[in-house]
Amino acid sequence: MTQHQSQYYLDYNATCPQLPEVTQAMREVVETAFGNPSSLHWAGRNARRKLDDARDAMAKFFHVESGSVVFTSGGTESNNMVIQGVIAGFESGHIVLSAIEHPAILQAVEQWCARFSGWSFTTVKPNKDGKVEAHTLMQACTDDTKLVCLMWANNETGVIQPVFEVAQACREKHILCFVDAVQALGKLDVNLDKLGADFVSFSAHKIGGPRGVGALIQKRGRKLESLMIGGGQERGRRSGTEYVAGAYGFAVALGVLDYTRAQSVRDDFEAKLKQAIPKVAIFGEGNARTANTSMFCVPGLEGETLLMQMDLMGFAVASGSACSSGKREPSHVLLAMGAPDVQARSSLRVSFGVDADESVVDALLQGLLKVQERLKKMSGRG
Ligand SMILES: Cc1ncc(COP(=O)(O)O)c(C=O)c1O
Repeated sequence: MTQHQSQYYLDYNATCPQLPEVTQAMREVVETAFGNPSSLHWAGRNARRKLDDARDAMAKFFHVESGSVVFTSGGTESNNMVIQGVIAGFESGHIVLSAIEHPAILQAVEQWCARFSGWSFTTVKPNKDGKVEAHTLMQACTDDTKLVCLMWANNETGVIQPVFEVAQACREKHILCFVDAVQALGKLDVNLDKLGADFVSFSAHKIGGPRGVGALIQKRGRKLESLMIGGGQERGRRSGTEYVAGAYGFAVALGVLDYTRAQSVRDDFEAKLKQAIPKVAIFGEGNARTANTSMFCVPGLEGETLLMQMDLMGFAVASGSACSSGKREPSHVLLAMGAPDVQARSSLRVSFGVDADESVVDALLQGLLKVQERLKKMSGRG
């Protein structure tokens, strides 16, 4: 009989397995509330009721009004809605954003500012520990600045950003504030009433909800030119027949995952990693980070090779480098933090799930050490 090796999923920041209660709730909605929420008959009304329930649950969870919740197809769409919506809404302007934003913001700002001659932007780097200082970000604002973008928690390092300070400073300067909270959801207390930002984006699949579903929380009175023109759904903010089961599944997933245990698992892993490989560099270690995330670099090992070797041993982890036009690019986050190119290419990200425990840490460490040994031998250094 073949002995199957164990598999470890340690890439929760990329996506989470869908929660069984989400799947069940969605199945029920698909089967019983299949109507188009815009239809006036009973089937439409059934679907409308489920959509309203989902919106109300989201609003309650985030401490906002139900009318602020716009359902979208995910974090990428929510982010693009804000960038494109603001740019299309003014003749000219300036955007300040951090250099560690997700590509759905970085590239959207770059490309849309290039298309509209009256628009420009300034990117602000984090410190060497991965935190973007609020005062540095605000110093980059000019009289022309219309929008400031800062993510709540970084997807690669997990470093938590000073979004409360930035939102407050933006309010004082009458500048719109946009927070990408995709990685904060499920890991931090996302009370948007306390935050007071104008726009906040979320994605369902990062918390065990369905893929292809997201939300944009748009403060009352804040207008965005709409990307989707059509039937005027979502109060004209996002046309298209609503994905009722998806929205419902998102609402069911809220608050289910609890990362409390992941913090001690992550800390235990990093302590043991440093003991086993003293030269390891852990990114963002000096800052508050989301509980489940560890990004590090083992000197001398190329991240992509390490990732593939770890995969062969059953570990699903991520490398910091991103694939762009068939080329491996070093992590833009680590480069912005001032990490040398070679380090930015050789990083590995582990993002633990809520059920990780000491046995996972020990298996992961053994795996890493085995791969390190194997790669050293292959390169003739062993
Ligand atoms: C910080 C951040 N923003 C946005 C996104 C995009 O979300 P989605 O996959 O729902 O489009 C991600 C996904 O990795 C993310 O980590």
